Amino acid sequence: MERKLIVTEDGSNSIFVPELNEHYHSTHGAVQESMHVFIEAGLKPMLQKKQKINILEVGLGTGLNAALSFLETELKKVQINYIGIEAYPLSLSEGSQLNFHEIIGGDKMRECIMKIHSSNRKYPFYLGENFILNYLEAKLEDIQFPNDSFDLVYFDAFSPGVQPELWTKEVFQKLYNAMRFEGWLLTYSSKGEVRRTMEECGFEVDKLPGVGGKREMSRAFKKIADFHHHEH
Ligand SMILES: C[S@@+](CC[C@H](N)C(=O)[O-])C[C@H]1O[C@@H](n2cnc3c(N)ncnc32)[C@H](O)[C@@H]1O
Repeated sequence: MERKLIVTEDGSNSIFVPELNEHYHSTHGAVQESMHVFIEAGLKPMLQKKQKINILEVGLGTGLNAALSFLETELKKVQINYIGIEAYPLSLSEGSQLNFHEIIGGDKMRECIMKIHSSNRKYPFYLGENFILNYLEAKLEDIQFPNDSFDLVYFDAFSPGVQPELWTKEVFQKLYNAMRFEGWLLTYSSKGEVRRTMEECGFEVDKLPGVGGKREMSRAFKKIADFHHHEH
């Protein structure tokens, strides 16, 4: 699959896939979108609740979400275990052209991105003292997860229009089962059909304000019911 490096409106790079006519991020700003959807709506509120956080990313791609998650948690007393699944990994040469460090994080960002794309994807490695990254080359459809494992799922697949097979009940049910109670799955998509599919799997789905040309995004919660026993 051919891939082209592009520059989005906040100055940060993204990648365009001509074959799918699809970008890896919003063309209004890659860093802006990742910060909004995954860090602000997911990681930051989770940091208020827990100190040991397991994150699953579907579609690790450029590594931007993993690197931003590292920058956000590096100086905090937390332990992050991050699994990033990617079916079509970037080469080291593609990774080294990314300019995220010019927009946010400077040398630390650069170092993260280089570490990620130098990985042989065989063993987990430390992005920092408190942050283990397990970069897996695989298709989401082919992986089985243990139950009750993830506090956050960054669902960053290509859009439902170009990749409908990743937005199915089967896939969301697998992710629901793999998540811990009171965990969140985040996605930039707010399509009604996507939300309904997630609700069928047991999620409680909130619409949050979107970013970069999207009015809304979705945050799906693996809820524990408030159970009230009524005596009659
Ligand atoms: C919208 S891009 C987002 C990439 C990434 N999160 C980033 O910030 O750069 C979707 C990513 O999902 C990957 N992908 C496509 N099909 C996949 C599959 N079946 N399983 C896992 N990843 C897949 C693509 O190669 C691409 O890197």
